[in-house]
Amino acid sequence: MRYRKLGSSDLEVSEISLGSWLTYAGGVDADATRACTEAAFEAGINFFDTANVYGQGAAETAWGEILSAHPRDSYILATKVYFPMSDDPADQGLSPAQIAKQVDASLARLKTDYVDLYQAHRFDPTVAIEDTVEAFQKVVQQGKARHIGFSEWTPEQIQAAIDVAGPGMFVSSQPQYSMLWQAPETEVFGLCAAHGISQIVWSPLAQGVLTGKYRPGQPVPEGSRFASADMAVSKDLVYNDATLEAVQRLVPIAEEAGMSLPTLALAWILRRAVVASAITGASRPEQVHANAAASGVQLSDDLLTAIDQALGDAPVTGPTLAPAAQPGVRHR
Ligand SMILES: NC(=O)c1ccc[n+]([C@@H]2O[C@H](COP(=O)([O-])OP(=O)(O)OC[C@H]3O[C@@H](n4cnc5c(N)ncnc54)[C@H](OP(=O)(O)O)[C@@H]3O)[C@@H](O)[C@H]2O)c1
Repeated sequence: MRYRKLGSSDLEVSEISLGSWLTYAGGVDADATRACTEAAFEAGINFFDTANVYGQGAAETAWGEILSAHPRDSYILATKVYFPMSDDPADQGLSPAQIAKQVDASLARLKTDYVDLYQAHRFDPTVAIEDTVEAFQKVVQQGKARHIGFSEWTPEQIQAAIDVAGPGMFVSSQPQYSMLWQAPETEVFGLCAAHGISQIVWSPLAQGVLTGKYRPGQPVPEGSRFASADMAVSKDLVYNDATLEAVQRLVPIAEEAGMSLPTLALAWILRRAVVASAITGASRPEQVHANAAASGVQLSDDLLTAIDQALGDAPVTGPTLAPAAQPGVRHR
């Protein structure tokens, strides 16, 4: 496993990291959660991404049990705040009160005194950006988080936050990015790079579509993410005829290059130096090991050209917002 510096921080994160969104929030059982997490340590993965909202605390609780058995300095832990945590309309967003409350709740569930990275899961345009920035700065001053990041902020929102916070406060941006979802390349990558902010990208395998397991015109395979109604909540983002057909065009390209499709897809992401880590999901420990093998794999220019041709018009490009992202910025 290779490691990359996370933005302007002192953190060295594994190129392949492990996330806990649908899987360890209840999508797979406790034994599989433990087996995948331990497989990550075996594979040299040191970077773990979760969020308060995954299973309304369930993913953090599961990892609190497992990770706390490891030395605290052997893993880099990231969580997030923004999405509703209860029916109370105040129990969401990025107000100072909500950030203060949620960081304590996350730390309790994660059984740790601090997270390495605390992220805004989305931008909250109902709260003045000055108030949100100050609230995150307080979390750092209190030692509850070492660094701050954001997920799915628009370029306007990123710039506004940097203007308020000054250089160095934000170290990471977490957009959806894969061969099939290239939208953040257009503006977000360049803006962040200019401010020393790394990308740590989500759904790098397009939720499994980029493994080739879903075939055009064929039923969804049993036991896969999209075979489960609970796990298929974001299927529409990446699953359609155009993407499935494009992935089948990638199959011979991967074969000829002597690598698996997941390796090709993850190495394609890691070709960009602005990406510090690809946050993979895994329902089985074998997937963790298979995905970790992509670290260090180089793709030739000819291979990259062939991939572009195979993908055709299938990828989502341009400044497309992720689900639940809202434009706009409020100031005091
Ligand atoms: N910031 C945000 O808004 C946001 C949003 C979404 C996700 N995330 C983060 O990104 C992480 C990863 O997202 P994701 O789970 O969608 O990532 P992904 O890596 O694109 O998809 C993971 C799923 O693909 C399948 N898979 C993975 N490796 C495989 C392999 N080698 N062979 C065959 N199938 C394989 C597994 O599903 P099955 O085996 O069940 O088919 C696995 O659960 C999340 O856990 C979370 O931490 C963040």
